[in-house]
Amino acid sequence: METLTGLKRSHKCGVLREEHVGSEVTVMGWTQSYRNLGGLIFIGLRDRSGLVQVVFNADKDKEMFEKADTIRNEFVLAVVGEVVLRDKEAINEKMPTGKIEIHAKELRILSKAETPPIYIEDDSNVREEVRLKYRYLDLRRPSMQRLMELRHRVAKIARDYFDSQGFLEIETPMLTKSTPEGARDYLVPSRVHPGHFYALPQSPQLYKQLLMLSGMDRYMQIVKCFRDEDLRADRQPEFTQIDLEMSFVDIDDVLTVNEGFMKKVFKEVLGTDLKTPFRRISYQEAMDRYGSDKPDTRFGLELVDLSDIVGGCGFKVFADAVQKGGSVRAINCKGGDGKLSRRDLDGLVDFVKIYKAKGMAWITVCEGEIKSSIAKFLTQEEIDGILSKMGAEAGDIIMLVADRNEIVYDALGALRLELARRFDLLKKDEYDLLWVTDFPLFEYSEEEDRYVAKHHPFTMPVEEDIHLLDENPQQVRAKAYDMVFNGTEVGGGSLRIFNTELQQKMFEALGFTKERAWEQFGYLMNAFRYGTPPHGGMAYGLDRLVMLLAGRDSIRDVIAFPKVKDASELMTEAPTTVDPKQLQELHLKLDDSI
Ligand code: AMO
Repeated sequence: METLTGLKRSHKCGVLREEHVGSEVTVMGWTQSYRNLGGLIFIGLRDRSGLVQVVFNADKDKEMFEKADTIRNEFVLAVVGEVVLRDKEAINEKMPTGKIEIHAKELRILSKAETPPIYIEDDSNVREEVRLKYRYLDLRRPSMQRLMELRHRVAKIARDYFDSQGFLEIETPMLTKSTPEGARDYLVPSRVHPGHFYALPQSPQLYKQLLMLSGMDRYMQIVKCFRDEDLRADRQPEFTQIDLEMSFVDIDDVLTVNEGFMKKVFKEVLGTDLKTPFRRISYQEAMDRYGSDKPDTRFGLELVDLSDIVGGCGFKVFADAVQKGGSVRAINCKGGDGKLSRRDLDGLVDFVKIYKAKGMAWITVCEGEIKSSIAKFLTQEEIDGILSKMGAEAGDIIMLVADRNEIVYDALGALRLELARRFDLLKKDEYDLLWVTDFPLFEYSEEEDRYVAKHHPFTMPVEEDIHLLDENPQQVRAKAYDMVFNGTEVGGGSLRIFNTELQQKMFEALGFTKERAWEQFGYLMNAFRYGTPPHGGMAYGLDRLVMLLAGRDSIRDVIAFPKVKDASELMTEAPTTVDPKQLQELHLKLDDSI
């Protein structure tokens, strides 16, 4: 095997242009392609910067030509040669280096390669499992290299921008204390303290608050977070946050600094001028109009509440839902008649059932009449009322769901997105950024049969709602905000509670006894006693942000070594069993019955 001794790379492959013609260069990279045309061998040599053509001529150097003839795809080469203008007919306009080629004078084969299990090219149609098993090869594909560059760029912009705004990047521990009230923790057993565990951080939330208390004024960190929850396209068990916290601020201060950040990202990454301030809509308005607290407002198909019209109608499903405190809401699928068959509509009924709706009624609006299975239960006045409130015209299909409000929002919010997907309304080059504000402080968890924090237990309630904490917790609003980018929650944060009494009250509202609250969070509540600045902040999902900027559908595409649905990593096969000796050292015994 040959080595680099005596050679130094002079240029990256993809940077060579006409201006280099006549100079001697040394390039190094992987073999993308080889063609032997008799007396000439053409090699496509690739590195991160791009591709360049290298030519070996049998007439000029027979020995080197024969060596070049042994080259196969993905061999790693070093080539010294002269940059030469290509013949007119050989010019490749599609290639940035397509006007020139390198006439080789020296060749070193630095590493041979077996035939790779996946094609190293962008439009190869390889299953994701195979790509992830051989991720180091998958990452050689130019599109993956562009995504890694983009991710680097966004992280660099974040560091530079927040630095310019007076933020300090401060690291916080990875081995921390397990705390309730979040997702499930990843635990790390302690060897030194038998039976004790660290938890990997779900976020640096309490550390960054304590840094404000320490007088650090403004903190940021690009930080790994760990949550043992079910994976989705936009969820990984370990993911990265751009995390920040600020002292002596109100909501507007936090939002303004963050709008400045997004403006810079969009300008530098996409060359787009974002309009600031972003639109703000309240949680309630988002739910009422879009059925979601992360609304995609690139398209209409808004929800309309029809409860006042059909609440007393002869259709029992509608009347019952309204009587029990729920609602009847609908979407007008404009021009849907003709685009959606009866079978499609039946499919959509099944679709809303995934979201626990019992069904979906529809009204097809035709010239001078309507077609609907529920028409017989409705008076003409009710039908006219629906059509007018929905702004219905011939060709529209009104889709209605009646149930508890949460189910109606969920089902119609999902239906709205499904219709947008089917009618191709989700344009990837359209950017829709907004803030959702005025979240409720709590949400009711059926699973736990109690109130849980909608954001987290450290979120400041709106002052005038604090008196409702004991009696009417569901009515308390939070000083919390989410940033939504094309229908994805890309970031979220809040102003924080900064005094012991209110924090303790919050834990009580969440069902903690005083003892348990102090046992779990005593260090925070104690710290508040020593002079705490009002503070607030937020965190972005860096993976999600990069995914959206790249117009991708999965955060796996923008993570070098992501995990798959069952939280395993296909390349290393983690998680794995470990040596019994390691378990012994950690004072752990496996339960063989599981
Ligand atoms: P939150 O839990 O909303 O807030 O997280 C902030 C952002 O992180 C991203 N995110 C994820 N990305 C990928 N995979 C996941 N499993 C995942 N979970 C969350 C989202 C989300 O908006 N400490 C608070 C922030 C604060 O209050 O300052 C927090 O972690 O984009």
